Formats: sequence, structure tokens, C-alpha cells
Amino acid sequence: MAAAPPASIPRHLAVIMDGNGRWAERRKRPRAIGHRAGARAVNVCIDFCLDKGIGALTLFAFSSENWGRPEEEVGALMKLFLNALEREVDELHRRGVRVRFIGNRERFAAPIRERMDNAEALTAGNTRLHLSIAASSGGRQDIARAARALAADVAAGRLRADDIDEAAVAAKMALADLPAPDLFIRTGGDHRISNFLLWQLAYTELWFTETLWPDLDAALLQEALDDFAGRERRFGLTGAQIAKGPQQSTESTAA
Ligand code: IPE
Ligand code: IPE
Ligand code: MG
Repeated sequence: MAAAPPASIPRHLAVIMDGNGRWAERRKRPRAIGHRAGARAVNVCIDFCLDKGIGALTLFAFSSENWGRPEEEVGALMKLFLNALEREVDELHRRGVRVRFIGNRERFAAPIRERMDNAEALTAGNTRLHLSIAASSGGRQDIARAARALAADVAAGRLRADDIDEAAVAAKMALADLPAPDLFIRTGGDHRISNFLLWQLAYTELWFTETLWPDLDAALLQEALDDFAGRERRFGLTGAQIAKGPQQSTESTAA
């Protein structure tokens, strides 16, 4: 991760990239054109994180539920994924980005799965930006998978049911090795989580914008960061406790 950015910069940014379809429909174009424009906006977002020293970026690219869209749209998205994996990974590697995919990889066709594996292997040693792409991903599925893994540990005698606490669950969730997202951004005007990172977003600051994802620019992302910098994160404590500094808050939440 980037060396000690100021506290007003999120360590981990999580983004729902929404509004591609409407962007195209407003132009009387097929929705796939919006997804293609959306792929360009992904680069804007990655560039911004590299520029600001944000250490981790998680992008919601395709939800577990998006498989239910019309076949034609899902097909167009799969083609775009494949193209993006072919086109972008070397450049991301060159720029020190570690790429990882979270979600149910089994549902993708073999050529996509292979390229996902290759991208992860190629970039595994990079530390400048930890980029996680949530694809065929859902918060509820992630929680269910963690529960299954814990149940398997109990069945195998590696874990006692009584020892299942927050930390044990957290360790089985996607992105367990990263700090929880500090800031969440959703474009496209809807104010909901849509089954993204349910566990990890518990204390994340939420920021919504009407701007459609393909229209994203650095100025908009800066607006989100400026808003984030002015917020007081209390994690259940009082403002006075937070003002005393992190020592106090760590002791209080450890109880
Ligand atoms: C987000 O844009 C991309 C995916 C869900 C794959 P949408 O396709 O949801 O765009 P809108 O919300 O319909 O405009
Ligand atoms: C969330 O957007 C998923 C992604 C951006 C990948 P959706 O467009 O699928 O969410 P809903 O259907 O509006 O809740
Ligand atoms: Mg949408």
C-alpha cells in the first residue's frame, strides 16, 4: 500500500459502478454501449486512487443477481470482461497494481476464469494499489460461504462452535486481509447497497451521487473525498470520546 497517506484519505474505497444502462438508454443506444463507456470510467477511478495514495479499491462489476439479466446483456458484459482482462492487466501490473477477483468464479466460462487466475498470479507481488474486482459477487453469498467454512472447521474438529466470534467470521469473508472500506461510493442515483459487501460495510461512510458511472471524472471523486474528510466517524462512541483520540476508542471497542 502507499506510504502513510493523510487520515482524510480512505485506506480502502469501495464503489458500486451503477448507471451504465441508463447512460446508453438516454442516448438511444443499446445498454452494452453504456457498459463499454463504463469500462473507461474504471480507468479514471484507478488513476485517481493511484494519484491520491488510496491503498485499496474494490469495484462492484457484476453482482450474483446480475446473471438474471437478459442473455444478450450478460453476453455483452462477458465479452467486455474478457477484453478488459486481455487489454488492461499488463498496464496495471506495470503500475504496481495487485489485481484480485472476489465472488463465485465458477460461474464464468473457462477463458475468463483462466485470465482472472493469470492476472492474480502476475500481479500478486504488487503493493501500490490493491484492486479487488467483485464479479458474480454478493454479500449474502459471502456470509453463507463463511458460515459453511466455519461449519466445516467445526465438523473436522479444528474449531469449537463456542469459539466462533466476529474475528473468526471476519477471517473467512472476502477481503479479510484488507481494512474494511472507509468510504463507499455509489453512482447512478440509487441509495442502496444492492447486496455488495454486507459484512465489510458495517461502519463504512456512504456517499451517493446522481452522476451515471460512465460520466465519472476525478472532480467527482474528489468531491466524495472532501465530504469524507469532513465526517466524524464515531463507531458507536460519543463525539467527546473520539476527540480524545484513537487510544480511548480502541479500549472502548475492545470490551
Ligand atoms: C451497472 O450499470 C453495471 C452492472 C450492473 C453490470 P447498470 O447496467 O446497472 O446500469 P443501470 O442501473 O441500468 O443504468
Ligand atoms: C449493483 O447494481 C451491481 C453492480 C453495479 C455491479 P444493480 O444495477 O445491479 O443494482 P440494483 O438492481 O439497481 O439494485
Ligand atoms: Mg443498475
